[in-house]
Amino acid sequence: SVTECKMVDLPKVSNAQGNLTFIEGKNHVPFDIQRVYYLYDVPGGAIRGGHAHKNLHQMIIAMSGSFDITLDDGRNKKKFHLNRSYSGLYICPMIWRELDNFSSGSVCMVLASSIYREEDYHRNYSEFMRALEG
Ligand code: TYD
Repeated sequence: SVTECKMVDLPKVSNAQGNLTFIEGKNHVPFDIQRVYYLYDVPGGAIRGGHAHKNLHQMIIAMSGSFDITLDDGRNKKKFHLNRSYSGLYICPMIWRELDNFSSGSVCMVLASSIYREEDYHRNYSEFMRALEG
């Protein structure tokens, strides 16, 4: 459910020369990372996502700029504003998500627990709701 989806603080090493954040498998992400992908050059006003994953765990980080993520488990919705390179939003399986309000030049990095499989997607909201009802 959306209550399992949380912002996770990542380590940040700061000095006068700038900041450094690192992410270690298992230590900072509650799943094994099998894939990394990123969204960039997103035009103003674009809405991304609009699907749920059956088994995939993800962590989403705003590497640059900002955007909003709305999560929906079929009962409750929760909205997050991502704008820090040192915090990630963990999303468990079976959560419908929409990403919007991308700032210009923003980069959205996603860590995922599996390689890309189209069969893992619910791309139809009513089909997603039916799957939740079991
Ligand atoms: P999609 O997950 O629908 O993007 P978003 O949720 O950001 O709007 O993926 C868009 C397209 O990219 C879709 O045709 C599948 C393809 N794709 C891959 O080939 N590999 C990947 O790892 C991802 C995430 C998408």
